[in-house]
Amino acid sequence: MILEAYLIEWASMLLRWLHLIVGIAWIGSSFYFVWLDNSLRPPQDAALAEKGVAGELWAVHGGGFYNPQKYLVAPASLPKELHWFKWESYSTWLTGFLLISTLYYFQAASWMVDPSKAALSPSAAVAIGLATLAGGWLVYDLLCRLLIERSQLLFGVIFYGFVVLMAFVLTHLLSGRSAFIHIGAMIATVMSANVFFWIIPGQKKTIAQMQRGETPDPIHGKRAKQRSLHNNYLTLPVLFCMISNHYAFTYAHPHAWAVLALILLAAVLIRHFFNQRHKGVQQWRYPVAGALLLAGVAVWLVPVSLPAAKAGAAVDFAQVQSIISQRCAGCHAEHPTLMASAPAGLMLDTPEKIQSLKPRIIMQAVQLKAMPLGNVTGITDDERAVLARWGQQ
Ligand code: HEC
Repeated sequence: MILEAYLIEWASMLLRWLHLIVGIAWIGSSFYFVWLDNSLRPPQDAALAEKGVAGELWAVHGGGFYNPQKYLVAPASLPKELHWFKWESYSTWLTGFLLISTLYYFQAASWMVDPSKAALSPSAAVAIGLATLAGGWLVYDLLCRLLIERSQLLFGVIFYGFVVLMAFVLTHLLSGRSAFIHIGAMIATVMSANVFFWIIPGQKKTIAQMQRGETPDPIHGKRAKQRSLHNNYLTLPVLFCMISNHYAFTYAHPHAWAVLALILLAAVLIRHFFNQRHKGVQQWRYPVAGALLLAGVAVWLVPVSLPAAKAGAAVDFAQVQSIISQRCAGCHAEHPTLMASAPAGLMLDTPEKIQSLKPRIIMQAVQLKAMPLGNVTGITDDERAVLARWGQQ
C-alpha cells in the first residue's frame, strides 16, 4: 500500500515535470507566433512583396539579427526543409492525460469524489471526467463550425457560457479541485485537438495542393489561423486552472463555479490586451477590467467569520488532538498510513505542530471544508464544530 503510494508519487513527479517542460515549449511557441503575426509589417522592399511576402519583422536576440517573413498564402515553391510545430502540443496533452490519470483517475475515491456534493462511485466520477474532455471538444468544434464565419465575438461569448455551465455542473458533482482541473483539461483538450484535427491537416492540404502544382486554397490557412488564435486566448485560462489546485480558497468556495468564471474572464481580457498591443494598439480598459475583476473576487472571498460556532462548552485541547489524530494524521504525519509522505510536508502528529498550524487547520477543515481530502477519514459535522469553537478560543 505504502510502496504503491510511493510509486504513484514518483510517477506524478516525473510526469508533472515533463508536462511543464513540454507545456512551456507549446505555450511559448503560441505566444511567440501570435506576437510575431501581430508585429509583422508590410515589407519595405518591393521585391519581397512581389515574391508573396505579406509581412516581415526585424528582431535581435542572442547576439544575432532575425528577419522572419510571412508568405500569404504560400511561397511560390516549397522549401526543402520545413519546420512543423505539433509535438509541443501533442506531448503536452499526452503527459497531461497521464498525469490526470495518475492523480485523479487512479485515486478517484479521495481526489474526485466529494460525498457532500454527490454520492458517486469512483468509476462514475472518472466517467464524468472523461466525458467532460471528449464532450468539451465536440461542443467547441460544433460551435466553431456554426459560428466562426459569422462572428468571432458571438462564438467567444457562447463558448464562454458553455465553459461556465460546465464549471457549474462539475463543481456540483465532483470535488472542487477535480472540477477545476477538469475545466482546465477540457479547454486544453480543445487546444490540442485544434492542432491535431484542424491546424496540421489544413497545413498538409495546402502543401499537397502545392505539390500537385495547384494554387493553394487560402481557406485552410485562414481556418488554421482562427483556431490558432483561439488557442492563444485559451492559454491564460488553462494555466490558471492548472495552478488552481494549490488554492483551496478558490475551488472550495460554495460558489466555486462563479469564482472560476470571473477569473477566466479576467484572464481572457488580459490576453486580449497583449494581442492588441502587439498590433500597436494600447487599450488599457481590458487589463484594467481584468484587474478589477480579480480584485472583486479577492474582496468577495475574504474569509468571513467562522460559521457560527454553536455556543457550547469550552473545547479542551485533548478533544481537538483526538479529532486530528483520527481524521488527519493518517495522511499528515511523519509516517502516514494513507499516503507515502505527509502531503504538503504538513504533519499534524504532535500537540506543538497542531497548535502552531491552528490557522491553517481551521481554514482548510472548517472554513473551506477542503480537508480531510475527499473526507476519506469521515470527519463529522460535530467534529468540525468542535474545531470551529477551538478556532474562536
Ligand atoms: C487522505 C489524505 C488526507 C487527509 C486525511 C487530510 N489531508 Fe490535508 N492534505 C492532503 C493533501 C493531499 C494535501 C495537499 C493538497 C495540495 O497539494 O493542494 C493536504 C494539504 C493540507 C493542508 C495545506 C493546505 C495549504 O495549502 O495550506 C492543510 C492545512 C491540511 N491539509 C489540513 C488537514 C487537516 C486539518 C486534516 C484533518 C481534518 C487533513 N488535512 C486531512 C491530504 C489529506
